Amino acid sequence: MARRVGSASALCPGRRRPKVWLNRRMTTILTLRPVVPEDLPILFEQQLDPDANYLAAFTAKDPHNREAFLAHWHRIRADETVLVRTIVVEGAVAGSVLSYEDDGHPEVSYWLGRSFWGRGYATRALTEFLAHVNRTRPIFARAATDNAASLRVLEKCGFGVVGTGRGFANARGAEVDEYLLRLPPGPAA
Ligand SMILES: CC(C)(COP(=O)(O)OP(=O)(O)OC[C@H]1O[C@@H](n2cnc3c(N)ncnc32)[C@H](O)[C@@H]1OP(=O)(O)O)[C@@H](O)C(=O)NCCC(=O)NCCS
Repeated sequence: MARRVGSASALCPGRRRPKVWLNRRMTTILTLRPVVPEDLPILFEQQLDPDANYLAAFTAKDPHNREAFLAHWHRIRADETVLVRTIVVEGAVAGSVLSYEDDGHPEVSYWLGRSFWGRGYATRALTEFLAHVNRTRPIFARAATDNAASLRVLEKCGFGVVGTGRGFANARGAEVDEYLLRLPPGPAA
């Protein structure tokens, strides 16, 4: 997915107050808000994680290249077809979630800092994004066929596999199989 984002280009900051989500125990606050420049050093550090890169597979050629990272984010924040939000958990920048156009079809992608994994935050963030930021349906996603966590997130959000593909994955230096997933029109759309 990340390789497709590389060709995308603009930020559409929402002007409304971010919605506040509470978990089942009503203790953890998760919000989405427009990306601000102060987020970028944190997002940069988060995308350096080697395990995250392996999972995501279709990543930047060199995640350590800070200039390329900043240029990429400059492009996507300036691109009106890209909707991107920072995921904030209890006031901390936890990651990002976005959609971009691929051949005229919207696709979603997301990335969480390692310390935020395994607590349902990606699922909550994507659910919020699909409900309030990009309500286009159908909407698509891609994930390496062995990225079990991402595939589970998409499944929980209602996506289903509609195809497969194979492409060169920078993070693995090899060709990798991926699933194409689709969220159909439905009651929540
Ligand atoms: C993928 C990612 C966003 C998931 O974030 P997260 O906040 O941990 O996700 P959630 O907690 O909402 O849900 C993860 C689900 O996957 C499951 N899961 C995690 N690892 C798994 C594994 N190895 N095998 C099977 N299921 C797994 C979890 O149990 C959970 O499902 P459950 O709620 O039914 O128990 C995060 O790992 C990440 O940022 N990875 C690097 C970037 C990336 O891969 N982005 C997606 C590119 S396609």
